[in-house]
Amino acid sequence: MILETIEVGACRSYILGCAKTHIAAIIDPEISAVERYRGLASKRGLAIRYAIDTHTHADHFSAAREIARALNAQVVMNHLSAAPFVDLRLDDGDMIMIGDLRLKAMATPGHTADSTCYVLESAEEKHVFTGDTLLIGGTGRTDLPTGDPDRLYQSLFGKLLKLDPATQIHPAHEYKGRTGSTLGEEIASNPRLQKTERAEFVAMMRALDIKAPTHLTEALRVNMSGKKSVAQLLAEASAATPFMSMTELSARLAARQNDLIVLDVRERAQFDAGHLPGATLMPRGQLELRVNDAFPDPTIRIVTICDFGKISTLAAATLRALGYMHAAALDGGMQAWREAGLAVEK
Ligand SMILES: [Fe+2]
Repeated sequence: MILETIEVGACRSYILGCAKTHIAAIIDPEISAVERYRGLASKRGLAIRYAIDTHTHADHFSAAREIARALNAQVVMNHLSAAPFVDLRLDDGDMIMIGDLRLKAMATPGHTADSTCYVLESAEEKHVFTGDTLLIGGTGRTDLPTGDPDRLYQSLFGKLLKLDPATQIHPAHEYKGRTGSTLGEEIASNPRLQKTERAEFVAMMRALDIKAPTHLTEALRVNMSGKKSVAQLLAEASAATPFMSMTELSARLAARQNDLIVLDVRERAQFDAGHLPGATLMPRGQLELRVNDAFPDPTIRIVTICDFGKISTLAAATLRALGYMHAAALDGGMQAWREAGLAVEK
């Protein structure tokens, strides 16, 4: 068995592979680590066949769909998961084959309705990937959409904790950098598991007052639809456009070569408060409506600018997509331009 743990902040994901066939699965992949997964898989000579999400995550962006697309793998989730792009939907007790390894889905609703633990059946050592059902020294919360403390109690005490106490647990989160724990250790010392009476457990979970995760609505939207986060949209725009440095643009403006258009894509009020010498105003929201009349020549050199360099990147990528083959975005925005003490006119 090959097992790699990948940490991204407090999120943990795992590459689980069969040492004999080199077939592997990634469990709970996170979007910012896609290149790491690919690197690790090729370093270990693994073919990723499955991208498994233990549940619909509300606190990070899943990379399951992206990995499945890039590596020709199958997205695996519970039958109840809302995401429309799932290739293989599992019922309680279903098993998937990862080469010679057998990984069994154990439905453990509570943190979310679609929460599932994955139990490694075939290796000599016993392992369970617990998602957010059971953490080291904790459990997943039950106050987010589809969460239910009563069902979590049943999933833990009626199901998960009945596995062999020697089973090693691999949660989707670890906030204190701890590695390695077993079900037995958790039963003995996990504070949440000391409330063994249903009513006490439910009351404890209901009384927890945990602040909502950052990106809650965006993460749910992206994970349930398989579409993009704002950061991904920006990253794609960045990849689709070249940039010009502030020094380069400033030198070109000083030389008065008149060989490019500085296109300020902010709103009128911001533009009036100070802009680059000779800049043309065209708010981002009007770009597509006005380019045809404003720039009949698609070979014209355009450098876009906004406040922080993000909207200008989207604008430059749009211009490139429209066929303005010499469009670029300023590396930076008005904020950085001002801080650098470069020329501003009103
Ligand atoms: Fe979660």
